[in-house]
Amino acid sequence: MSKRHYPYGRQTIDQSDIDHVVRVLRSDYLTTGPAIETFEEDLCAYTGAGHAVAVSSGTAALHAAYHGAGLGPGDEVITSPLTFTSTANAALFLGATVRFVDVDAQTGLIDPAGIESAITKRTRLIVPVDYAGIPADYDRINAIAKQHGLAVIADGAHSLGASYHGRHVGVLADATATSFHPVKPITTAEGGAVLTNDNKIHQRAAAFRTHGITRDAKQFTKQNTGPWFYEMHELGYNYRLSDLHAALGISQIRKIDQFIARRRAIAGLYDQMLGGIDGLTVPARVEGVESGWHLYVIRVANATRRGAFFEKLKSLHVGVQVHYIPVYYHPYYQGLGYRKGLCPVAEDFYDRCVSLPIYPSLTDDDVACIADRVRQAAGASL
Ligand SMILES: Cc1ncc(COP(=O)(O)O)c(C=O)c1O
Repeated sequence: MSKRHYPYGRQTIDQSDIDHVVRVLRSDYLTTGPAIETFEEDLCAYTGAGHAVAVSSGTAALHAAYHGAGLGPGDEVITSPLTFTSTANAALFLGATVRFVDVDAQTGLIDPAGIESAITKRTRLIVPVDYAGIPADYDRINAIAKQHGLAVIADGAHSLGASYHGRHVGVLADATATSFHPVKPITTAEGGAVLTNDNKIHQRAAAFRTHGITRDAKQFTKQNTGPWFYEMHELGYNYRLSDLHAALGISQIRKIDQFIARRRAIAGLYDQMLGGIDGLTVPARVEGVESGWHLYVIRVANATRRGAFFEKLKSLHVGVQVHYIPVYYHPYYQGLGYRKGLCPVAEDFYDRCVSLPIYPSLTDDDVACIADRVRQAAGASL
């Protein structure tokens, strides 16, 4: 058998991506210049969002979106524990606390039924995570939010290009934070964006990206003493994306539908090839939803064999991963008082899940080769 190693995710870069970046290198602007504005316009045109704020990472996008929605000390955020730590960390950055709500056993998405009972007088935001690229149940979640006067910020780090009942990720919540890390639907190397139709979130997130500074004369509270004048109104950060990164984003977003179509085809092939294997479950499909297939997550029936299965796949050069260790298992969160048992469905999901390689440049033969190795690993270890 071939020894070729397949990572679980990988960027797709071609000559046009390289040309876009080189053009910026030869231009007058390396950091915030015309490429940022173009990339933001492209993100809006693609998703249908009214505003985009390009930032330096998905984590910065979450931080800026939460700030934009007014999150502050003493507030609570409701989110899923089946996510990367930054979904919760960004709430802590702002002095808020996190209430973890359990997930659906089949999809790994936050269970809307659990949200209602987690709402307290302090709740400010609901943050669904579009786990693996599947948009969460926004109709139900937005209805709950509306009833309680809360904002919904989507963690769309996995789901740019996915859709929910015909609407693109980016317009499904009050704001969406997305990521352009190399394994994500499109990449800028490091990067992220806040997408929103809300003028206030947009304005606050845009200022937050650059130290809380505004150059908009309409917002000045002091006399405008000259063309150099600007004011800092809130404490912000340097979360700017550079024009180099944005140039890559401009080139990548042109290909996003092609990338997602290929991911979808790969998922279809895996479904066919792995569907009948004893002891394994392939990912659930959700009606009315087109996943972006950021991850292809299979689950083992016998959780005690997951470790052996994972090791076997690694030895067969399949770069499997586990998404995710529930956020509150981490020592930092345990130090804050969170304990195992809080979200039993997410914990069980974590015990069984294995992410297989999925990225646009995998050929049908690659997928067949990986599926063979999965069958072999299942036979040997499950
Ligand atoms: C669900 C989720 N949220 C947020 C992030 C943070 O994105 P970034 O790595 O661009 O900061 C990630 C990235 O791994 C993620 O998977």
